[in-house]
Amino acid sequence: MSLPPFSRAPRIVPSILSADFARLGEDLAAVEAAGADWVHVDVMDGHFVPNLTFGPDTVAALHRTARTALDVHLMIAPADPFLEPFAEAGAALLTVHAEAGPHLDRSLQRIRALGARAGVALNPATPPAAVEYVLDAVDLVLVMTVNPGFGGQKFLPAMLPKLRAVREMIGDRPVWLQVDGGIGPDTVRLCREAGADSFVAGSAVFKDGPAGYAANIAALRAAAG
Ligand code: DX5
Ligand code: ZN
Repeated sequence: MSLPPFSRAPRIVPSILSADFARLGEDLAAVEAAGADWVHVDVMDGHFVPNLTFGPDTVAALHRTARTALDVHLMIAPADPFLEPFAEAGAALLTVHAEAGPHLDRSLQRIRALGARAGVALNPATPPAAVEYVLDAVDLVLVMTVNPGFGGQKFLPAMLPKLRAVREMIGDRPVWLQVDGGIGPDTVRLCREAGADSFVAGSAVFKDGPAGYAANIAALRAAAG
């Protein structure tokens, strides 16, 4: 499934990291039926971040049944050797970290050449200037609102001025501005006011089990306005 045309309408993007890994396929279907716009897949390597999660085979398995676009967040370094396997696995959007390698522009060009949309992520301590000269090479900027590696962490309010700065830098370009980490109804509102349009949420969607997915997504959507 490819991504829909660009618009600044809010997108609610559940992170499968908070799903029940013993029933990943069922949870993917359930969260899609509950109203997910895209589904976020957190790839961790135990090196760039202190945790391990999924590889391309898992993404390919999810893609076989997915009805929404898979938004694959690569928390791995180096990322370049894995761009092709993840693109082939069906990632609609591939996001690399600005901190993950010395040749960010090359990585972003490669993602587009592979037929996926290209995203760049910024860790909390990384200033907006890190993406200033690649804004024409990306489809999405992800401002991390926690330190990447784990679900269920507390939102960092110091990221709100950074979001405003990135929003201003993006200007009229067709580039989504995504937030990820500690996103719930309250923080969605703050991030929307600061200019975000794509909201990744793990625990806030999955916390009550499948019976709660639709209500939890609806609450996030309502808060995004
Ligand atoms: C953190 C991941 C997030 C994570 C967010 O490293 O990038 O996508 O799933 O989880 P919550 O919404 O629980 O903070
Ligand atoms: Zn993520």
